[in-house]
Formats: sequence, C-alpha cells, structure tokens
Amino acid sequence: MSNLVTREKLTRQVELMGEDAAQLIAQTRHSKELGEVRIKLLGRSGSLNNLLKEMGQLAAEDRPWYGELCNRLREEVTRLLAAQEEEFTQREKESTLLAEKIDLTLPGQMRARGSWHPVSLAQEQMESIFLGIGFSIVTGPEVETDYYNFQAMNIPKDHPAREMQDTFYLTDDLLLRTHTSPMQARTMERFAPQIPLKVIVPGKTYRRDEDATHTPMFHQIEGLYVDRDVSLAHLKGVLLHFAREMFGREREIRLRPSFFPFTEPSVEVDISCFHCGGTGCRLCKQTGWIEILGAGMVHPHVLQGSGYDPEEVNGFAFGLGIDRVAMLKFGLDDLRALFTNDVRLLKTFH
Ligand code: PHE
Repeated sequence: MSNLVTREKLTRQVELMGEDAAQLIAQTRHSKELGEVRIKLLGRSGSLNNLLKEMGQLAAEDRPWYGELCNRLREEVTRLLAAQEEEFTQREKESTLLAEKIDLTLPGQMRARGSWHPVSLAQEQMESIFLGIGFSIVTGPEVETDYYNFQAMNIPKDHPAREMQDTFYLTDDLLLRTHTSPMQARTMERFAPQIPLKVIVPGKTYRRDEDATHTPMFHQIEGLYVDRDVSLAHLKGVLLHFAREMFGREREIRLRPSFFPFTEPSVEVDISCFHCGGTGCRLCKQTGWIEILGAGMVHPHVLQGSGYDPEEVNGFAFGLGIDRVAMLKFGLDDLRALFTNDVRLLKTFH
C-alpha cells in the first residue's frame, strides 16, 4: 500500500519534471541557451540526477521500476533537446539562404566592352609585320631635346629644314618631338658599334598643324637598319614586303627622289592604290598611287655623330605615319575623327 502511494508520488514528480523540461526547452532562443538548459536538466547536479537521488529511499522492489521511469524521462528529454537543436540549425540555414538570396529574374549588369582604337589596331599590325622580318621594337621620350630632334639628325640650329616641321618648343632646348627620328640617334648611341642594328620605333609625335589630314599629335613608326653594305634595294625590299602584308599581295611601290637632311639619297615612297588597283580613283586622287612614307639611306653625318664609322657601315631609315595607314586601311576621311573619342566611331571597331 505504502509502495503504491510512493510510486504515485514519484510518478507525479517525474511527470512534473518532464513538463518543466519541455517548457524550458521550448523557451530557449538559440543553441547556447539550449546548452545551458541541457546542463540544468541532465547535468551532474541537474534535475534528473536530483530525482535519481530518491532511489536510496526506495524499497528494493521499487528500484527497477523507478530506474526505468527515470530512464524514459531521460530519453524523452534527450529527444526534445535534439529536436530543438535541429530546429535551430534549420533556422540558421534558412536565414543564411535568405541573406544570400538573389533575384535571378533581375536584368544583369552588362559590362561595357571596350575595343581597340583604330590607331592601336594599325600600329599592332604594322609592328608585327616588322617583327616578322627581324626588327626589334624600341621606344623613346616624347619630350625631346633640340639636339636629338634636330642636331643629331643633321639639322643645325637656324637651318631652313627646320621649317618642314613646325615645332612645339617647351624651352629653348626642350620640345615635343616632331618625328620619331631622334630615336635613330639615341639607338645608335646605345648600340654602336654593334651590327646589324634593326629596330622600329612606334610612338607619338607633335607638330603645329591641324586640318583634315593633320592633327597636332600623331603617330609614327621609325625604321632603322645599320649594317655593312646596305643598299637602296634592301630598303625597297623591306618596304615592298610591308606594303603587300599591309595592303594586299598585288601592291607595288614606287620611290620618288626627295629630301631629308638626315638621309642621302632620300625618297618619298608611294604604294599602288589598293582601292582602284592603280587605275585612278578619288582615294588616290586619280594618280593610282598613295604616298605612305619618307625614307632614305642614313646620312654619314648621322652615323658618325651617333658612334658608327660611315666608312665601315651604312644603313637605311624610314618614317611611316601610323594614323595615315589607319585612315587608309579603315576608310576614314577625316584624321581628326581618330582623336575626338567619339564612341560611335570606336564601336565600329569591335
Ligand atoms: N622623319 C621624317 C618625317 O617625319 C620621315 C623620315 C624618317 C624620312 C626616316 C627619312 C628617314 O617627315
């Protein structure tokens, strides 16, 4: 009888603790709190162990019964804890997903695609033609000294040839280079007396000019070849190769006598018109020929002044307008359009 009363009382206590535990667990807000509750319930001095202490007071035949009762409570509490823990992990997952949510139906941010500038395109193509026949690329300063721009190029101070190139002076001695030719002298000084010397020099040049075919800033490629026994035939061969690679297999070139202080003899070089094939059209002004560059055999003064012995070696040089080639190649009729940064023009080169 007294066993029954005891059992009823104990059952009630265990049930109460179960309810209590369920409530505590349900009230936790995150897994740290849940950890604390776990200790309060199942820890060494937790509620369950407190209940188990009653064991000592029980009659021997009640002990297994009570043990089982407590075990069931432990299982139940453990299950509730695990379920709550699972709930927290789930909730955390959901909130990261929510935070990282992207709307796939939103229109994307298109990245604007650039394109090569027509001058860069022409320059790149011209460079690769000369690289292909053994020339190396060197570059030099756009702010140049009077010495390299003129004097080393056999154009003394006050020489009338200076009028061919209307110059932006920065000081009496410094200027914006009017051509890439000063790099002839700089390169020879650097490498003399080595031969062969075979370089091209692409870069910006400046003259006080502005109309449909001239801009104050423009681009040139200088060519320089120094070796023993170089002849005009070598120059012609190199330029013919260039003309055909750039403007088509059927092109011919023609050399006309000309004058530059730094070459002797000097020539102006024309290519047969790639538009009409030489019969005459608007592009070649009915002549069948288009002028593309100046060239000649390097003047002995220039060789000597830059460290080479003109009795031992000689060479040829040429100066090509990159923008002119770009204009011809891409059919532009106003050079200035290349430098106004009008994206409508640039976009046509995608
Ligand atoms: N520097 C000359 C010019 O700009 C071109 C040129 C270069 C001519 C090399 C002959 C030799 O007009």
